[in-house]
This record gives sequence, structure tokens and C-alpha cells, in this order.
Amino acid sequence: MSAAETPASGPSEQPTAPYLDAVVGYGFRGPGRFHVPGHKGGPGADPGLRHALGDSALAIDIPQDVHGVDIGPSPSPFERAEALAADAYGAARTWFLTNGATQGNHALCLALAPQGAHVVAQRNSHASVVDGLVLSGGLPSFVAPSYDEELGMAHGVTPAALDAALAADPDARVAFLVSPTYYGMAADVAALAEVAHRRDVALVVDQSWGPHFGFHPDLPESALRLGADAVLTSTHKIVGSLTQSAMLHVAPTERIDPASVGVALRLLRSTSPSSLLMASLDAARRQLAVHGEALLHETIAAARATREKLATTPGIATIGEDFVGRPGVAAYDPLRLVLDTRGTGCTGYEVADALRNAYDVQPELATVATMVCVLGMGQPADALVRFAGDVDEIVKRISKPGAVQALVRPPEALHDTMVVAPRDAFLGRSDVVALQDAVGRISCESIAGYPPGIPALLPGERITADTAAYLRDLVTSGARLHGAADPTIATIHVLAEDLA
Ligand SMILES: Cc1ncc(COP(=O)(O)O)c(C=O)c1O
Repeated sequence: MSAAETPASGPSEQPTAPYLDAVVGYGFRGPGRFHVPGHKGGPGADPGLRHALGDSALAIDIPQDVHGVDIGPSPSPFERAEALAADAYGAARTWFLTNGATQGNHALCLALAPQGAHVVAQRNSHASVVDGLVLSGGLPSFVAPSYDEELGMAHGVTPAALDAALAADPDARVAFLVSPTYYGMAADVAALAEVAHRRDVALVVDQSWGPHFGFHPDLPESALRLGADAVLTSTHKIVGSLTQSAMLHVAPTERIDPASVGVALRLLRSTSPSSLLMASLDAARRQLAVHGEALLHETIAAARATREKLATTPGIATIGEDFVGRPGVAAYDPLRLVLDTRGTGCTGYEVADALRNAYDVQPELATVATMVCVLGMGQPADALVRFAGDVDEIVKRISKPGAVQALVRPPEALHDTMVVAPRDAFLGRSDVVALQDAVGRISCESIAGYPPGIPALLPGERITADTAAYLRDLVTSGARLHGAADPTIATIHVLAEDLA
């Protein structure tokens, strides 16, 4: 159900943006600015920055605790802005985040997975989940996602896999899952919530890639409305707030105490959160709630036309709808254009490089087998028409005979090989050894091949020969290794033997 269909208890306040309006009101009424920031709303800033951002942006870059903005009679404009976001998403409580969904994962780990607490986490969770467990000291056991060996692509977790993981770790009171994936594949969240709740386990869904879900009938439903207890939406990724801004939503549920989440967020938050980021969240929520359905309608139609055009390019297949019903895929996001490039005889990296070089087209992600483009809620349709033409032209130029084989993850790497708590491994005394000598040792590093940003190795995991080979293959195929102390992966930090 979209926000527009939510039964209104009175006139809707969704067309307002109280925090944005309050910040603008303060920024332009000419107050004596004897507080931070030092640029004083523009005059004190470097001329180059003033020109680049414009004085309007600098005028509304204001500190926390300004009367009539975020302090004063309750509810303050800031409180009203977060309440409107909660209302639009159907949450009991929503927080604006100024350090991305990353901050939300860290906070949820601190709040729900404290020192020694058991949690079940999806193995292809974003690196920020295990980083959060390094901060909190929680003890994860991992549930493997469904894996497509043809494309080397991890999907969501099936309800049966979650049930088995919870049965194997009966002390776990929370499960951290991802939906949708980077490739736009959404899991069966309703069934996953049922499985978790039957075992009295809270379900956290990292819906970073789906801040628009539930706001158009042709999109997957929002995880919150499907029964998840806490949900992250990385608003900046699709819905148009400024980079680094995101939201954390807690459902009206007994399973999560909003106060504990609030305490954790306070620990992780700067005492000077950016008013620009927060105002952009208030504005993005308004646009999503009021005009989202219409904007999404146009974008979905343009994406459909692009897929139809791409289907005529030899060697290119767009994937999405045809994956629905496969294990771990209950729905897909039409705002993700996922191109299977294997039939061109070129890797996704080669197609992406050629597009970049020839047409300055910058995709979100390329892998050996795919290239992924992320569309925004109000994606300009003419850019999509041009994109389909550019792909067609490039593929004609660079196609080679034969098909490319995807880089496939050893399946056992997606199962649990955690032998030491991530916190103990990450903070423990380490040896630096050559990768070939690291097999059998315990990793202190969290290493994600980027793209796609999914950890290939976690702190606390025993390094297998297959994982070492996969890390080498990632580097050779052109991926960068995020989090690796040695980006060439010639060496790696492993836990000192007396600690293992
Ligand atoms: C599934 C998932 N969760 C969390 C994040 C972190 O989001 P942010 O960049 O907003 O911190 C990402 C980033 O790509 C992600 O893919």
C-alpha cells in the first residue's frame, strides 16, 4: 500500500516539510550568527566553495539545537519531520541518519546484538553489519543466501534456510537479512517474518536498496509492511536525498525497544549532524509520499521501454522479472537494470569500460558476468533512451565470439566458517602473512570485493584455500578489495596463533 493510500486520520501533513521549512526560515532571516559553523552562512567561506555550492546552501548549513528548528516547544520541526517519515513508511519510529545506512546497521548491532548475544545474519549482508558486530561484540552465525552459479550472483535467504539457521542457533533473538540485493532481487519478507516471529526472533531487513518500495503498485512491498521489525532505507540511493543520508525505521512491535536504538544512535552520531543532509531527507520524504507514485510510474515505464530496446541487442539479456520465483527471489525492482553481458564475449567490466570511454556512461556496478545500472525515482527518460542506444553501439563494436564464464564463489564460502567472534578477531593481535600461508588461519580483516561490496572474507572466519583463490581471482578480474590492508592481497592479517 502506498502512503497515498494510507487511511488518513485527518488532513494529510505529507505535503509539508517542517524541518526543511524551519531551516530555510532561519537561514534566510538574517540572524546574528555567533555559533558554528565558522563560514557564518557563506561570508566566511572560501570563494571557490561559495561559488560551487551557492550561498543558499551555506545559509542553511546550521548547527544542531537552534530554537524553533530542533529545540523549543515539542514537537519541534525536526521531531515532526521524523514523525512524518514514520507515517509515510508505516513505522512506529523513524530516525534520520547522517552517516548512511551504514550507521543504521552499526546502531542496530549495538542495540540488538550486544557483547556475547547470538544473532543470525545473512552471509551476503553489507560489510556494515559485521563492522557493527565488531563494535558490539555480538556473536553471529551465518545463513547462506540462495546462489545463482550461472551468474555468480547471491540472492536473498529462503524462509526454509532462515528456519534452519535459527534452529541451529536457538539463542539468537534477532536475524539480520537483506532485501533487495544489489541486483534488485527481493526476498519473501512476509514468510521470513513469520519464520522469525514463530521463534520469537526480531527480523531486521536491510532494505537500503529499496527506499521506494511500497510507493507504487508495480514495486515490491516495503519490508516494514510485510512484518519486519526494523528496516533500513538508504534514501540517497534511489529517492533523491543527499549522499550519506538514510533512514532507520522501527515497526510498531514489542520485539524492539525504540529507546535502545535511540541510545545506540546517540553513541554513533556526531554532535554536529548536517542540517543539509537532514533537510534533504525531509524533502525526499515529501516528494516520495506526495509525488512518488507518479514519478515512479514514469520511471518504471521508461525502464520497461529500455529493457525492450536492450532485448534487441545481440548478446545482451536484461534480467529481473524472469528471476522471480527462483529460490531467494520473491520480487524484483524494475528500477535496477541488470544486464547479463556474457553473450557479448566480453565481461561486464569490459562493457562498462567501453561505455565509459566512448560515451561517459557511468554504471553503478560491473562484474565478470553483469553490468548494473541504478535508476532514481525520477530518472530522466531521455537519458535511458540514449543509454539503450549507447549499449547497442558499443556491443556491436566490442563483441567477441564465445561466451564469458561468471566468476563463481565457492558455495561453502557462503556457509558458516566463523570460529572467533568478529570483535575478537578484528581487535586481536595479528600476524601479517603471505596469502598462500594464510590458509587454515583466522582472518582479522573484513574484505569485500567491490563491486559488488559483499564481504568475501570476514574477521573471525577461517581462511580456506577456495576463499584465498577467490580473493586472488577477484583482483585479477578487475575488482577492488575494500577493507584489505594489502589491496593486492599478496599478504593478509591473521590472528596470532596463541589467540586462535
Ligand atoms: C545492503 C546495503 N546496506 C547498507 C549499505 C550502506 O549504505 P550507505 O552507503 O547509505 O551507508 C549498502 C551500500 O551499498 C548496502 O548495499
